[in-house]
Amino acid sequence: MNMEKEFIIIEMPVGVVGLGLMGCSIVTCLLMAGHPVVAVAPLAVDLLTAEDRIRGHLTRSWQEGLARESPETYLPNLRITEDYGELASCVLVIECTLENLSIKQTVYEKIEAVIGQDVLLTSNTSAIPISILQKHTLRPGRMFGLHWAEPSHTTRFLEIICGEDSEPEKAEWLYRLAHNWGKEPTLVRKDIRGFITNRLMYALYREAFYLVENGYASIEDVDRACRNNAGYWMTLMGVFRWMDLTGVAAYHTVMKDLFPTLSNSKEVPPLIDGIVKAGGRGVSNAKGFYEYTPEEARLWVETFEQFSYEIRELALRYPADVVRRQLPW
Ligand SMILES: NC(=O)c1ccc[n+]([C@@H]2O[C@H](COP(=O)([O-])OP(=O)(O)OC[C@H]3O[C@@H](n4cnc5c(N)ncnc54)[C@H](O)[C@@H]3O)[C@@H](O)[C@H]2O)c1
Repeated sequence: MNMEKEFIIIEMPVGVVGLGLMGCSIVTCLLMAGHPVVAVAPLAVDLLTAEDRIRGHLTRSWQEGLARESPETYLPNLRITEDYGELASCVLVIECTLENLSIKQTVYEKIEAVIGQDVLLTSNTSAIPISILQKHTLRPGRMFGLHWAEPSHTTRFLEIICGEDSEPEKAEWLYRLAHNWGKEPTLVRKDIRGFITNRLMYALYREAFYLVENGYASIEDVDRACRNNAGYWMTLMGVFRWMDLTGVAAYHTVMKDLFPTLSNSKEVPPLIDGIVKAGGRGVSNAKGFYEYTPEEARLWVETFEQFSYEIRELALRYPADVVRRQLPW
């Protein structure tokens, strides 16, 4: 695909199916990048909330200087519908429905019944291997994982994941296109459950449960340690650069003694099991690892939203090639 065609493609319609938390922020990102968006509500309940959510994201992005134009400029490019048939004009469709294989399979049948042969079909699945999802499609070669981070319109994260049957040149096209969406994407060339970040993060979650459940530290202390250690460098660099910066040999030494003591449990930890079975969902129903008053729960949501804009500003001052840019040649 040449540059001229890529420029044209940014003005071509993209479909998003599923207008929950992430679907709405993905739609916002695509609108701000210049795409007309066909947003399909698989359940009528999405129609009650989607437009307001998207308008809210656009308004805040405009106020924060993230969006170049006001919401009124982007909203005419948005079509919210229950009719899958309207996806027929799209060059790319992003499925963003519940993390449930049979639901996703039913949704793919409806999408593939209306889209053209060359249209790419992608899923925002958090952890279902793309190679499994592909088996439930008519044309596995055009299917990819497109894994966003919430809120999708402010984060720079995007994983593009190939399944066993994905056609690599199409992944590279997606990879280039994602730069037009303000992303710093990563390409996962070989499918693996959890992709990159969820594998890394779930290793961290497992160890956090191990420390709390075995009485080494409280939930508050584990959280405080995460924030004030990794939280201070991870926006600037990843783990390999961090080891380079702080001395590779020391890590080599520590690994020999520490790795055999880390948790390698294959069970869901009792702590989270108990909370979920008691109906706890976290901030959304004010019941999780911490207890919240409704006011506190609301403030956490608002504080995270504010923080996501501010950390983005900071991160943009330190792009991936920040040091190379400072070199005189
Ligand atoms: N929330 C996150 O931070 C996050 C991050 C990365 C990936 N994801 C993934 O994105 C996807 C959507 O997550 P979300 O957080 O937006 O969820 P959500 O619950 O906010 O939205 C789910 C969507 O699924 C649709 N849906 C529900 N039941 C359905 C059915 N029977 N048939 C068709 N559609 C149905 C709903 O209409 C809704 O639009 C999931 O695969 C999730 O794993 C979420």
